[in-house]
Amino acid sequence: MKFKNIGNTNEKISEIGIGTWKMGIDINHEINAIKLGIKNGINFIDTAELYGTEYLVSKSIKNIERENVFIATKVSPHHFHYNDVIKACNNSLKNLNIKQIDLYQLHWPNYNIEISETMKAMEKLVDDGKIRYIGVSNFTLKELDGAQNAMKKYNIVSNQVEYNIITRGIEKDLLKYCEKEKITIIAYSPLARGSLFSKKYYKLYQFLDTIGKKYKKSATQTALNFIISGKNAIAIPKASSEKHVIENIGASGWKLNKRDLEQIENFLKNNKIKRNSLSDTYGPIMKRTSSIWSKLMTNKQ
Ligand SMILES: NC(=O)c1ccc[n+]([C@@H]2O[C@H](COP(=O)([O-])OP(=O)(O)OC[C@H]3O[C@@H](n4cnc5c(N)ncnc54)[C@H](OP(=O)(O)O)[C@@H]3O)[C@@H](O)[C@H]2O)c1
Repeated sequence: MKFKNIGNTNEKISEIGIGTWKMGIDINHEINAIKLGIKNGINFIDTAELYGTEYLVSKSIKNIERENVFIATKVSPHHFHYNDVIKACNNSLKNLNIKQIDLYQLHWPNYNIEISETMKAMEKLVDDGKIRYIGVSNFTLKELDGAQNAMKKYNIVSNQVEYNIITRGIEKDLLKYCEKEKITIIAYSPLARGSLFSKKYYKLYQFLDTIGKKYKKSATQTALNFIISGKNAIAIPKASSEKHVIENIGASGWKLNKRDLEQIENFLKNNKIKRNSLSDTYGPIMKRTSSIWSKLMTNKQ
């Protein structure tokens, strides 16, 4: 497993992590998958107060040395008032059964609450030792800048955004900007929410399989490598089986060569493979109405 520094810190996080959204279905199975992932080099585990999986993460890391895992969770936008952020963090600490959250992220922007109020609470949480680093999620370049400027003492270390071989909107500006500013991109839905395996993208899957064979890698490993290799990005696929976790770990530690990267680019272009991110599609509404946000995040995807 290859590790990358998160943000401008010396903290190392695995370039393949585990996402836990929609886990909680076959708990023992999922916990075993997370444990196996950690045993095989993953240290980055992502959850959120909204996912209802913090307890599951807590069970997965129960007998593991605390410094061997990096726990990331998120505060929901309807909790962005100062006191609510503090309360949400305390709840997450309790659910996770840990003393300190490694990365605390704002889940989505909320235009109804002043960002300065929210960031003040985030800084207070660092000062109080309840969280180590501050991150955001689904923030555009402008929103990211606004959040950073609203803080007095600390840097934002990461922006968790949708990024996969099909959804690459962040390459327009955000990816480069974050590289320059040393803000890690945490690529969510790195397997396109599973649609990489659907009929619609079968040709792409087959093509990736052919490219991957040269490296003795699968189509899935090739798709993940495409977004993490050589970039300021890590990926957090959700995998609830041991088989999937082990396969995903194999996406790290090697690099597609320039020629193959170009071939993939050409294939995507020639076949017009492109999809808007969730944030592009729903962002303008969701950033103003957190009740719609909660509904969409809970039921829709
Ligand atoms: N910040 C945000 O707003 C936001 C939004 C969405 C997601 N996220 C984060 O990103 C994580 C991942 O995103 P996601 O859950 O949307 O989708 P994803 O990781 O792109 O895809 C998950 C799907 O891929 C399958 N899968 C995983 N590894 C596989 C493999 N090697 N071979 C075949 N299938 C495989 C999973 O099946 P199994 O479960 O059966 O293994 C699941 O059906 C989430 O869990 C969450 O932590 C964050």
